[in-house]
Amino acid sequence: MEKFEYFRGTPEVGIVPKAPHAGPLIRHVYEQEHGRGGFAGKVTHTYHLYPATNWLPDETRVLDGGAWAPHWESPLRPLGGTHHALTVMTPAEPRDVYRGMARLVANATVAMHVTAPAAPMDYFFEHHGATLVYFVHQGAGTLETTFGPIEFRKGDCLVVPKGITHRFELGSGPQYYWVYESFAGDPEKSEAPTTGQFITHSRSDYKFPRTLDTRNESGRFEIVSKVDGIYTRRVHPTHPFDVIGWRGDYLPYKFAVEDVRPLVADRSHVPPSGHTIFKLPGCYLCVFTVRSVEKEGMWLPFFHKNLDYLETIGYHFGDFFSGGGVVTQGMVTLHPVGLPHGPKPRALEAFLDGQNPGVHHEVAIMADLANPTQVSELALSLSKPGYMKSWAGYTTDPRFTWSANRLAEVQALAERVADARDELAPKERDGEGA
Ligand SMILES: [Fe+2]
Repeated sequence: MEKFEYFRGTPEVGIVPKAPHAGPLIRHVYEQEHGRGGFAGKVTHTYHLYPATNWLPDETRVLDGGAWAPHWESPLRPLGGTHHALTVMTPAEPRDVYRGMARLVANATVAMHVTAPAAPMDYFFEHHGATLVYFVHQGAGTLETTFGPIEFRKGDCLVVPKGITHRFELGSGPQYYWVYESFAGDPEKSEAPTTGQFITHSRSDYKFPRTLDTRNESGRFEIVSKVDGIYTRRVHPTHPFDVIGWRGDYLPYKFAVEDVRPLVADRSHVPPSGHTIFKLPGCYLCVFTVRSVEKEGMWLPFFHKNLDYLETIGYHFGDFFSGGGVVTQGMVTLHPVGLPHGPKPRALEAFLDGQNPGVHHEVAIMADLANPTQVSELALSLSKPGYMKSWAGYTTDPRFTWSANRLAEVQALAERVADARDELAPKERDGEGA
């Protein structure tokens, strides 16, 4: 025993050798590397009771993907020129997390899915082609992994890096998750150079598993893996969670939406990208959470054309002032590249009339996917008719429609407010003297 305690430079749990591939322990247990970037990227080593390749050779089967997970590869088609509001998906029959996965939109590097699991997984899953980011809109349970279990609940993000063996144990009640499948890289924490590493959250908010639940069990343990649309099942005679220790920083983790501490601005409007939590290749993920309303700046989204991304928003909780009463919890909107959108008429009226709600009481998850992004047939089957009509007030409310005097009125108004100043700004005399 040493006189003082130390922590090592790499996270570790359980029984591990002093360093990877070294020391006497490696002659008694079986080391396995989970490695990215060839052998030069992020890595974790796990130490197993049994060899990782002890599969039963005659039991490997390529599965019929269409029968196994009928909507995961739902056919895609181009999308443009029309906004969509997707209703909550109700599966025709109870399916587990993966067999019930349904694709909504996808580009070359990221796909967004929805799943409403209502059946247990009687197999383990490994995604060999993508890292998965879950947002738990509804439900709770335990994500069992090689590195230990992670308990999750409503409002949690779960990050399951590529290749990690895992299984979802569902809690009671309905479950509904949005899932972002990243084919070209793991989520990177978003940080602006000028606001640093604690906005909009801290790395200390990530929770990695630390409780090993080592299984020394024999039987038939099925693992289903996926690469693109190829689903393969293999069978091992020992439990895949036969891990006695691990060391590394390539790990699954959870992150609670309540730990997002958003950037706010009194005198301007923080753009959606200011609420980014994760960057993925070809996608950024934002959380709009409960926050104070801009005091003097625009507290609504400005009308905008996003010329490089399709925008998705999953509505988790709240009033959704910008939804114009059309969007309810669990729905997802799709705003395709280039097509203008922005506040619905009632919300804009409230802003123009000087109202200020004080607090944005909402939680929504936005994932913007780089163009070209396509929409699935399944998503189109969930599209609620009439979403484009939610801006219809702009063509019927006299406040917004054509009038012969409009130009002259605006010119006169502009003159009147030309010298107006924000209340929160320094006054002219404030900087004078010492
Ligand atoms: Fe937008």
